[in-house]
Amino acid sequence: MTFHVVDLIRTKRDGGRLPDAAVDWLISSYTAGAVPDEQMASYLMAVVWRGMRPAELSRWTAAMVASGERLDLSGLGRPTVDKHSTGGVGDKVSLVLVPLVVACGAAVPQLAGRGLGHTGGTLDKMAAIPGWRASLAPERMRSVLTDVGGVIAAAGAGLAPADRKLYALRDVTGTVESIPLIASSIMSKKIAEGTSALVLDVKVGSGAFMTAQAPARELAETMVALGDVAGVRTEALLTGMDTPLGRTAGNALEVDEAVAALRGGGPADLVEVTVALARRMLTLAGLAGGPDPADVLAAGRAHDVWQRMVTAQGGDPDAPLPVAPHVETLPAPATGFLRRLDARAVGLVAWRLGAGRARQDDEVSAVAGVRWFAGLGERVVAGAPLLELHTDDPARLATARAALADAVEIADTPPSVQRLVLDHVHL
Ligand code: URA
Repeated sequence: MTFHVVDLIRTKRDGGRLPDAAVDWLISSYTAGAVPDEQMASYLMAVVWRGMRPAELSRWTAAMVASGERLDLSGLGRPTVDKHSTGGVGDKVSLVLVPLVVACGAAVPQLAGRGLGHTGGTLDKMAAIPGWRASLAPERMRSVLTDVGGVIAAAGAGLAPADRKLYALRDVTGTVESIPLIASSIMSKKIAEGTSALVLDVKVGSGAFMTAQAPARELAETMVALGDVAGVRTEALLTGMDTPLGRTAGNALEVDEAVAALRGGGPADLVEVTVALARRMLTLAGLAGGPDPADVLAAGRAHDVWQRMVTAQGGDPDAPLPVAPHVETLPAPATGFLRRLDARAVGLVAWRLGAGRARQDDEVSAVAGVRWFAGLGERVVAGAPLLELHTDDPARLATARAALADAVEIADTPPSVQRLVLDHVHL
């Protein structure tokens, strides 16, 4: 069936709902290049204002999945489960979580894109490991999942190609910020990846996409419902992102910290979020009766899986990580308790030092980033090192430092204890 795009735009503009056949046609014609960008941009802007009803959004997401291949991961001999984070500063959770959940008995097929903006991408962090390659052909991915149990790899061009085109268009037309468009974009890729279950880590706070809990919960509920309709058991945790996670932001720095957690150490906030997500993943995978992931992590049992995962993708897990040629230490301006370390500012600093990209095809630095020596509520002493800026290019230090102007607050009393896991969204 053929439709007139202008009619579809008018219907959405006026608050109507497209019939299923029109949704399918619009997505497939746009992916094939038969509907031009200007018409799709107009349609997307109408969605920003008018939204999508639940059934329409499920159909839209299904059409995005159907625009490419949907991997079949049945027959691996263990249940599949994945995690997706909406993105935060210092968010190296996947590097610890994937091997941990594998060590507890599940298979984790994590396919991801590269990071954009002030939150770093998991693939960029992994790429700091000497020799490691992000791309895996589907047959190789299956064999690594069978032998090792976990992969973190780049999503191939055949996975939800409609999203690739739509995301690029949304990026340049002011239509990224729409809950149905974000939810369908994320879920189309995760459904196409072939996982049977999925836990979403929806970050909330200054360093996240969503700064307030109400829209974050709405996004989580929308994605959980989309997963359910597509036959993927899906839940979400809302986790705090006013403060960056762990003690580092930047690719190689974060790998180093993730490895410390895999050896049974690592910062407490990183461990807390990782274990909370692992417990939900194992429950959805039907493995809740097994060992507690907190114990598995503390015993260093996920580290062996990590080494095998890195090796399977060409990396050398024992090779030293690259280090920055220029490191500047910033002292604490006062004595007291660290009351605030703003996640957005820290993300921006890491990005300005070279750790992130502004455009999809920009190169990122493996060594650039930020380390902080105190966590929230910890005591700091005036003049002692508080932050460290790492970069390949000293010319970047001044603009990076400027982003820290109001990022740190030191007070006479510690802040009240802040919960990291804020909410649990499930059917
Ligand atoms: N991440 C995605 O994959 N898509 C969006 O629309 C936003 C964040």
